[in-house]
Amino acid sequence: MQKIKQLVGYSGCKLELINNQDCLFVRKSTKHNSYNLRLKKQLKKQLNFKSSTVKTPQIYNYNYDENGLFYFDMEFISGKTLAEYTQDILITEIVDFIKCLFESIYFNSDEENPKAKDIFNKKIKELEMKISNKTNLYEAFNILKCFEWTQIYKSPCHGDLTLENIIITYNKQIYLIDFLDSFYNSWMLDVAKLLQDLELKWSFRYVEPSATQSLRIEIAKEALIEEILKLENGDKKLFAIYHLLLLNIIRIYPYTKDEKTFNFLDESVKKLVLKINNKQ
Ligand SMILES: Nc1ncnc2c1ncn2[C@@H]1O[C@H](COP(=O)(O)OP(=O)(O)OP(=O)(O)O)[C@@H](O)[C@H]1O
Ligand SMILES: [Mg+2]
Repeated sequence: MQKIKQLVGYSGCKLELINNQDCLFVRKSTKHNSYNLRLKKQLKKQLNFKSSTVKTPQIYNYNYDENGLFYFDMEFISGKTLAEYTQDILITEIVDFIKCLFESIYFNSDEENPKAKDIFNKKIKELEMKISNKTNLYEAFNILKCFEWTQIYKSPCHGDLTLENIIITYNKQIYLIDFLDSFYNSWMLDVAKLLQDLELKWSFRYVEPSATQSLRIEIAKEALIEEILKLENGDKKLFAIYHLLLLNIIRIYPYTKDEKTFNFLDESVKKLVLKINNKQ
């Protein structure tokens, strides 16, 4: 077994590209055994993902290494992340591409979840305690505390659907990678994560997209919003998704160390508060 290279990642996990008798695979392993349970949950999500059009890398094997660290081996997908692919995607293919992606994450159930209220309010309270020094978040927290979270429908979801976690192969097959165990599972959370990139440009905060790339991202955003508005009570669902997006953004503050990211967060909160207040 020969390690070819370390893949770039941001999380607490190690990613290696390995060659075993001419068969390439990716090994994702924890760096510390305190993360074992989380990676196992992420693997379970990946194994349970079902869609007729979008794929996820096949899992070959999973186990603990000699140091008790959990790992799993999966198919290596050769392609580009969607963040990179927004540079060369054909304008004419964007709408169908977003439709395909949306169909793979959307779950048709409008059953309100009474438990969501407590789960979200607890999360919001914890967050407010953690970042009580950020006085500019007063209005944002008020919005979050007043929102009726029972309308966030429970369903299977990816958990961290950024453009970095979507790979497009050279024959245009979409793959989802890097599933995340989130405190709440809902397809609406996945849409919020997509809008975090398509509307707020989270994945592009260090390298500004070119004018042509921005145009493509804007078309993709409009196409995604169109899909939500087509649903029954689509405008209400979209409104709920923007609340999730606001919560997502605020949840990044405690992990932030660099000024670019702080500026990104402050600007995003401002935009979202304005947007939500204008729609109320
Ligand atoms: N199965 C795979 N095939 C090809 N490339 C992969 C595969 N898994 C991961 N990668 C590459 O490695 C990068 C990092 O992997 P991954 O997204 O799983 O972890 P991470 O980014 O460290 O986690 P997080 O996004 O939660 O911080 C991906 O963006 C992708 O470029
Ligand atoms: Mg990732």
